[in-house]
Amino acid sequence: MTSIAPRPLVIAVDGPAASGKGTIARALAAHYELPHMDTGLLYRAVALNLTRWGGDPGNEFEALRACDRAGVSPDDPDLRSEIVGEVASRISAYPSVRAALLERQQAFAAQPGGAVLDGRDVGTVIAPAAAVKLFVTASPEIRARRRTEELLASGRRVHFDDVLTDIRARDRRDGGRDAAPLQRAEDAVLLDTGEMSRDEAIRAAIALVERKRG
Ligand code: C5P
Repeated sequence: MTSIAPRPLVIAVDGPAASGKGTIARALAAHYELPHMDTGLLYRAVALNLTRWGGDPGNEFEALRACDRAGVSPDDPDLRSEIVGEVASRISAYPSVRAALLERQQAFAAQPGGAVLDGRDVGTVIAPAAAVKLFVTASPEIRARRRTEELLASGRRVHFDDVLTDIRARDRRDGGRDAAPLQRAEDAVLLDTGEMSRDEAIRAAIALVERKRG
């Protein structure tokens, strides 16, 4: 009797900042018992490393040197700060930085049982053969409102208008760069979370995965 090994389930979740893709990716990973990688954290770790040793985000060579992540813990509270996100968005436009982080992401996606990865180019570059690709989005205003609420809840003093300006700048940079720009893969399913609660978005994502698998 021949047994057929189940196909690994690789789920790519891409989308712009504060679209809810991280929440959805974590929920999918828990639901399907798969390992999860937030690929944005890799770029953030490089950005934080660079900032800490006083490197220049405008210099590709210095950004590349910062890819050696020694010294940045995944639990470092600064990793998720707005300023580090901003620097991450700048250094992630460098092809050499993207190339330096590629292998780690592809190895994660190639685990035997599969994996869930979220980011900007998972469905287009990191795992173009992923079984399921979601492109999670919402309007800039809705994303800025969510991000503002999150930041206020964590005790930071922020204004909606500033957050919206940052989100728009990030969208322009992530979508307009030459190297792996943020774009929906042709075979990605669009999930607009704008009118959805957190739980509704998770339920919708699971339903989309089930539909794709079925
Ligand atoms: O997802 P997050 O906002 O943490 O990512 C920070 C920045 O890292 C993004 O604005 C984007 O420029 C960059 N990034 C990327 N490719 C990825 C993940 C993140 O360019 N796969």
